[in-house]
Amino acid sequence: MRKKIVAGNWKMNKNPFEAVEFAKKLQNEINNNNYCESIIFVPSIDLFCISEVLKASKIKIGAQNFYFENNGAYTGEISAQMLKEIDVNYALVGHSERRILFGETDEVINKKIAKALEYKITPVLCVGENLEERENNLTVELIRLQIKRALKNINLKNAGEIIIAYEPIWAIGTGKTADKNQAQEICREIRKVLGEIYNLKLASQIRILYGGSVNLKNAEELFEMQDIDGGLIGGASLTEDFILIANNICKTNFADIKI
Ligand code: PGA
Repeated sequence: MRKKIVAGNWKMNKNPFEAVEFAKKLQNEINNNNYCESIIFVPSIDLFCISEVLKASKIKIGAQNFYFENNGAYTGEISAQMLKEIDVNYALVGHSERRILFGETDEVINKKIAKALEYKITPVLCVGENLEERENNLTVELIRLQIKRALKNINLKNAGEIIIAYEPIWAIGTGKTADKNQAQEICREIRKVLGEIYNLKLASQIRILYGGSVNLKNAEELFEMQDIDGGLIGGASLTEDFILIANNICKTNFADIKI
């Protein structure tokens, strides 16, 4: 059984005061159960205070970014080691905004994944195509390449060590969601390529999320698809809607209705 994940990507929103207030609200109102878990990916400046607030909570905390060295002259960066020291156990890697705006290459992404695993931080590897690539039928090829490059020489001992997020760039922050069949098709392809790199058993256990304009209206139908194990939610994770999505999903044991 693959447990669903409802993950929030706050991006560059919420200062520490707002973050603490919202984290307390999430803690009080999200009732995670055995079918679903919640993770919030917050700005670096919020990580420490939130980790204090959510210490005893089931809600997990993730970083949006870190550098692949442990320490040293890397002005502006934080390390996986630092994250681990404050009990942050998840991190986004390869988000399209990092790739496009900050020039992160597949090689850098690969190093970050290796570093995260070294510190027992679960990386959420984000992959996705832009509109031009989709229109030119390059999506499958591109996603396969992104996955293969990101996971080059990465040995996984168990499926819980990594999470993948399929986030079509044209759907991020645009209000245009991939329809459930489009999203399912690519998530299935991702599982297939994971099977080729590792093995079918491991591939069948790795969680694959969909991200890109997930909201209260479309979350359920997306999360019901066979290879979609939850969502990485940007805009809607800053509001009450995140709580409603998490609680709504938690009511359903999808494991009963899918293989
Ligand atoms: P969005 O962002 O839900 O606002 O489209 C998703 C993401 O970038 O992770």
